[in-house]
Amino acid sequence: MMSQQVETVFSAEQFLLSRHSVRQYVPGITMSDEELNELLTLASSAPSSWNLQHWRFLVIREQAGKERLLPIAYGQQQVVDASAVIVVLGDLEANKVAEQVYEQATPEIRSMMKQQVDGAYANNPVLARDEAIRNASFAAQQLMLAAKAKGYDTVPMGGYDAKALIREFSIPERYVPVVMIPVGKAAKPARPTGRLPLEHQTIHESF
Ligand SMILES: Cc1cc2nc3c(=O)[nH]c(=O)nc-3n(C[C@H](O)[C@H](O)[C@H](O)COP(=O)(O)O)c2cc1C
Repeated sequence: MMSQQVETVFSAEQFLLSRHSVRQYVPGITMSDEELNELLTLASSAPSSWNLQHWRFLVIREQAGKERLLPIAYGQQQVVDASAVIVVLGDLEANKVAEQVYEQATPEIRSMMKQQVDGAYANNPVLARDEAIRNASFAAQQLMLAAKAKGYDTVPMGGYDAKALIREFSIPERYVPVVMIPVGKAAKPARPTGRLPLEHQTIHESF
């Protein structure tokens, strides 16, 4: 008998609403390099200030690495059972890539952009941190949607010991951990969640 593939066609709205935090994954499912690269390429299409692409993806797919994450993530089992755990890092020295980003621009534009970026970053660690976290967060959200589009589920995680993560995975000082994202095949659907009313979330025109 021929197997029949059932394809569900979602509207863009339904697709956005289909992402929810899955916390139980089928263990032992590997993610190929090809799938991983597709996800990361889609994630990196996120926007960023001056197009500096402040994100870095620390990818942990080996079982031993995921086991090392377990105590760091306060025993949250999803980091062990997911196919991959992607730690999204923010670049505190993103100004350093301006030269490369503007490589194809005219010398005048390249020099103007570099000056602008370096001016903003000079002696301003608060801006550097804000920019790192803000911009890496866009890539993180894009990564979760890309994973969903490819048949995976995710859960964004802030519940981990950042200092221990930095120590255990030798993360250089240049990078700040932003969010940890297990990506895997759902063993159990996400818990339903609601949202506060729009009136709570929205301020029209001015406070
Ligand atoms: C920054 C951030 C940190 C989070 N940390 C955790 C976490 O450590 N563990 C966890 O199970 N869920 C975590 N969550 C998931 C939230 O609980 C979840 O997004 C929220 O309840 C809404 O549910 P939904 O994602 O299914 O729509 C986190 C979400 C965000 C955005």
